[in-house]
Amino acid sequence: SVLEMEVEQIKKGNYDHFMQKEIHEQPHSLTTTMRGRLKHNSVLLGGLKEHMKTIRHSRRIVFIGCGTSYNAALAARPILEELSSIPVTMEIASDLLDRQGPIYREDTAVFVSQSGETADTLLALEYALENGALCVGITNTVGSTLARKTHCGIHINAGCEIGVASTKAYTSQIVVMVMMALAIGADRISTQARREDIINGLSDLPNQVSEVLKLDREMKDLAESLITLESLLVFGRGYNYATALEGALKVKEVALMHSEGMLAGEMKHGPLALVDETLPIIVIATRDSCFSKQQSVIQQLHARKGRLIVLCSKGDAQSVCPGRSCRIIEVPQVADCLQPVVNIIPLQLLAYHLTVLRGYNVDQPRNLAKSVTTQ
Ligand code: G6P
Repeated sequence: SVLEMEVEQIKKGNYDHFMQKEIHEQPHSLTTTMRGRLKHNSVLLGGLKEHMKTIRHSRRIVFIGCGTSYNAALAARPILEELSSIPVTMEIASDLLDRQGPIYREDTAVFVSQSGETADTLLALEYALENGALCVGITNTVGSTLARKTHCGIHINAGCEIGVASTKAYTSQIVVMVMMALAIGADRISTQARREDIINGLSDLPNQVSEVLKLDREMKDLAESLITLESLLVFGRGYNYATALEGALKVKEVALMHSEGMLAGEMKHGPLALVDETLPIIVIATRDSCFSKQQSVIQQLHARKGRLIVLCSKGDAQSVCPGRSCRIIEVPQVADCLQPVVNIIPLQLLAYHLTVLRGYNVDQPRNLAKSVTTQ
């Protein structure tokens, strides 16, 4: 009805679509996610407090989720391994169920779900509960089945997300899991300086996200140059392997363009055969301990005349692509484990503009649902 349409427009504010609004809301949603939880030298997560001892003594932390929520956990995995020294493994909920993979009493199983109602994630939760694991929930929905059935958890507090493609929930999920890593590692003196660096980085993150959102126009131009193409590859590694998967997922789910996120370390084991002058390849090469390896990936792709788009830290255009014809996306540099939050934003903007330019429905892509409550 006309009234319903007007209500929709009011909810969208000055934006044309919910996805666009939710992308631009991220400095605010991240602030809400961190509110009351950052102390100068430590992190306060009330929901985990009583179970912290059990978590620290667990033999393994296993992340379980679907889609974007799985990708968010993948982005947080390296820092959780580093700060906890506990092995961290990853499970796509349906795959864990298909295999009936082993889950033990000594495991901490962390379930990540924006809606808290995804069928596979909830079935995996039942399964982990039966096997006696400590079950932790990370969700954006207070009172959801996930929030109710887990032993403890953290609400991401990103505010309601309406666009089917998850954007602000993704970045808030990463921040929550980084805070969880900080809380688990809080009893170790050897990593104190590292943790303080990250906490400072978290306080400044909303500002850095506002900064990177200024790339909107540039991402629209880039989308214009890709509009008729059939495929897009995204190469990442380390902290930004997840960014490659999530960037590609955004492009395929809303812009209906084939896109694959790939681990750059696997490039020579297949993907390199695809490289030619026409296929666009985004390489994520912001500064961290993997930087020199990514520089060499860029050189090798360039030697095969790849059509490169390089996402790098501000001021690094020359170092990643000396005197060459790469397209460059420059983003602010933040603490390595927070860089995935900054790096996904130009890719969200790219997916958004590509979709609008191609004339598809941004907020409700064909065949997809916001929460998949059936198997
Ligand atoms: C659907 C949505 C995705 C979401 C996934 C997991 O596929 O379209 O955006 O990432 O479900 O949803 P959850 O609510 O469990 O995070």
